[in-house]
Amino acid sequence: MTQVSLETISNLAKKRGFVFQSSEIYGGLRSAYDYGPLGVELLRNVKDQWWRAMVQERDDIVGLDSAILQAREVWRASGHEEVFTDPLVECRNCNARHRLDKLDDPDVCPNCGMRGTFTEARNFNLMFRTHMGPVEDDENLVYLRPETAQGIFINFENIRRTNRLKLPFGVAQIGKSFRNEITPGQFVFRTREFEQMEMEYFCRPGEAEAWFEYWVEQRMSWYTGLGIDPAHLRLRHHGEEELSHYSAMTADVDYLFPWGWDELEGIANRTDFDLRQHQEHSGEDLRYYDPDTEERIFPYVIEPAAGATRTTFAFLIDAYHTETVHDETRVVLRLDHRLAPYKVAVLPLSKKEELIEPAQRIAAELRRRWMVELDTTQSIGRRYRRQDEIGTPYAVTVDFESLDDHAVTVRDRDTMSQDRVSMDRLVEHLEKKLA
Ligand code: GAP
Repeated sequence: MTQVSLETISNLAKKRGFVFQSSEIYGGLRSAYDYGPLGVELLRNVKDQWWRAMVQERDDIVGLDSAILQAREVWRASGHEEVFTDPLVECRNCNARHRLDKLDDPDVCPNCGMRGTFTEARNFNLMFRTHMGPVEDDENLVYLRPETAQGIFINFENIRRTNRLKLPFGVAQIGKSFRNEITPGQFVFRTREFEQMEMEYFCRPGEAEAWFEYWVEQRMSWYTGLGIDPAHLRLRHHGEEELSHYSAMTADVDYLFPWGWDELEGIANRTDFDLRQHQEHSGEDLRYYDPDTEERIFPYVIEPAAGATRTTFAFLIDAYHTETVHDETRVVLRLDHRLAPYKVAVLPLSKKEELIEPAQRIAAELRRRWMVELDTTQSIGRRYRRQDEIGTPYAVTVDFESLDDHAVTVRDRDTMSQDRVSMDRLVEHLEKKLA
C-alpha cells in the first residue's frame, strides 16, 4: 500500500484548496468535484505534461478538441448505445444499488450485509442523456460523450486530409467525459464527470502489435519520469472476458492506490473496429489510401487512454510524504517541479513595509517565469509548513539582512537546506534549480 490513507489525502486536498465537493453549500452533489486554486494548477500541469509528451515533442501526433455533444448516430456506430452498460443490482432490503461485477460476494449486500436480497441484474447504460433544443423527444436525444475517443474517429478523414498525414500517425485529445457510474467513489478516482487524455495511433494492421508494445513502454515511462515510484505501478493484461467490445488486446497501467491496485490508464488495440463502424453508419469512405501499395486499407488503432483527473489524484498520493523533524511531523508533497502548483513562494520575514516592498518586487520579477505565491501571513515556520504541504519546490525568504546585503535565503522543499543568494542572481539560481 502507499503510505497515505484515502482519508488523509482527501482531507489535505480539501484543506489546502486542491479539491472541493461540488455544490458544497447545498449539501454537495455526489461524485462531482470542483478543482480549487491549487488543484486547477496541478491538473493543468499534468495535462500540459501529457500534451507535451504526446503532441508537442513529436512529429507523428497532432491534437484535436472535439465537441462534447455529437450526433446520436456516433454512439450507435461505436456500440456504446447498445453495450456501454454495467450490470446493476438493487438490494430489496436496504434499496442500495451496486455494480454486480465489483462485488466481493455477488450474493451479499455490502451496505446492509444481507444475503440473497438482490434483484435480477439488469444492464444499465452509463451514458448521460439530454435533448438538443426545446423538444424532449427521441428525435432530439443526444448523449454527453462517455469517452473523447469517438471525436477523433469521426474526424479521422478531416485531420488526415488537412494535415497530409501518412501512416503511422496519432491524434490526441484532452477533455471532459461523462458516465453515469453506478458506484462512483474513492474521492476523485471514479466520478460521473471527469477528464480524459486519449490518443488514437493509426498504423498498418501488421504493425499494430509492435506499436502496442511501444505505447505500453512509453506510457509507463511517462509516469515514472514525472516521479511516480515504479514500485507503485504495474501492467495488467485483460483476460478475454474482460475486453471491451472494441478491443483485441488491452493492458491497464495500474497504480497502488490507498485501497490497493486500480486502473490509471488502459492501452488497447482497437483494431479497425471504429473506422469500419463509422464508414458503415455514415456512408463515408474512411479507408486510408496507401501510396506505397496503392491499396485502400482500414488502419488499426492503438489507444493509450488515461484519466486526467484520476492521474492527478495518483500524482498527489504518490507525492505525499511525512518525516519527523525536531520531534515534529513534517508533511511534504514531493511533487515533480513540473507538476507543482507553485514553483516558488516569496516570504518576507515580517509584515513591515521595508520587507514587504522588496518581497513584492521579487515576486513580480519571478512571476514573469513561474507560478509564484507571495505569502505574508503567520509565522515563517507555519508558512514553510504550508508550502511543504502544497509541494512548492523553493521558498525565497526576505529578511532584515536582505536590506543590507541585497541577498535572500532560498530554501529547498526536499532537503530543507538553505542557500544565501544575491537578489541580482536569484532568477539565474532558480532557473538552474527548476530546469
Ligand atoms: N476510450 C477508451 C476509454 O475510455 P476507459 O478505460 O473506459 O477507456 C480510460 O477509460 C481512462 O479514463 C481510465 O483508465 C480512467 O483513468 C479514466 N476514467 C474512466 N472512467 C472514469 C471515471 N468514472 N472517473 C474518473 N476517471 C475515469
